[in-house]
Amino acid sequence: MSTSPGAIHCTLIPGDGIGPEVAAATRSVLDAAATRPITWETHEAGGDVIGRYGKPLPDTTLESVRRTGVALKGPITTPVGSGFRSVNVELRKTLDLYANVRPARTLPGVRSRYEDVDLIIVRENTEGLYSGLEHIVVPGVVESIRIITERCSERIVRFAFETARRQGRKRVTAVHKANILKLSDGLFLECARRIAREYPEIGYDEAIVDAAAMNLVVDPHRYDVLVMENLFGDIVSDLCAGLVGGLGLAPSANIGDRYAMFEAVHGSAPDIAGKGVANPSALILAGALMLKHLGDLVGAARVERAVVAVLTKGEVLTRDLGGTASTTRYTEAVLAAIED
Ligand code: NAI
Repeated sequence: MSTSPGAIHCTLIPGDGIGPEVAAATRSVLDAAATRPITWETHEAGGDVIGRYGKPLPDTTLESVRRTGVALKGPITTPVGSGFRSVNVELRKTLDLYANVRPARTLPGVRSRYEDVDLIIVRENTEGLYSGLEHIVVPGVVESIRIITERCSERIVRFAFETARRQGRKRVTAVHKANILKLSDGLFLECARRIAREYPEIGYDEAIVDAAAMNLVVDPHRYDVLVMENLFGDIVSDLCAGLVGGLGLAPSANIGDRYAMFEAVHGSAPDIAGKGVANPSALILAGALMLKHLGDLVGAARVERAVVAVLTKGEVLTRDLGGTASTTRYTEAVLAAIED
């Protein structure tokens, strides 16, 4: 939806912890780089708003995303153990953002274990152990239900193959634990094999999740696009972020048939919140994914080139990358690179 011809209309959810800091940085970078003006609708979510709205995800926030069709979201804290359920999971499920795409690519100038890592993790975003179905069977025994359906398995594998086709990728690997979870991951694999036959030009293979984790650390080049259920995707994508320089650099896109939401892989980082030292690159790069999704390929390329230019120069780096720059100073360097 647009307010003026060609304008981008977008919901901004700054989140909490380091969220507002990295969201402000990202907003200024996207405003400078996009080829069309961006109109931002800012909305709140998270534990801090429960007092005012009675829940952590206000209806007005959801309505805004439904109206604009696209959201940029900072991280939101989820309490461990008791307390409210994850707002991030609720947004993904309510808006049926079923595909969580997490690219992991080595960036020039960033010290990392390997050169030329270029992986895409496609994580199923709506079911698995994140179905939120847990109950106490008897005191001392708790059951968490892991839902795997044919419909969601087929659509996530198809999404992975479509991504591979669009990006000229060679292979899709289905990551599973069907040796132990014979029924649930057995169904996932059955679906993956069926969908793979529709894409004869793209290679297909399978890997058991524990072996895949080790192989990724030892030799990440053996993989290309990896598709998996929710929890495996959560863990494996953090592992892959570690392969390419850490959480401060890892963007993610949550895509559904009607809506899309872009965020960093990292969380609200309470240990550094409010100190002005967070690396905003992950959300900035998620912003580039958002511009691509909206068809502004030139704007997206400007953002990516500017981040790469600053990292390659290596003069203005945040603490997580071995530098001393504040979030603001780093953002200024990215803005200057866009102007160059
Ligand atoms: P985290 O990703 O927030 O932090 C892990 C470590 O990475 C910390 O040492 C932190 O300082 C560092 N880090 C993360 N992002 C950084 C950045 N941009 N720049 C520099 N350093 C960075 O993970 P943690 O501590 O497990 O989670 C904190 C909270 O975030 C939890 O409540 C969790 O539920 C929530 N979370 C939210 C997510 C989301 O909104 N999508 C995703 C992951 C976690």
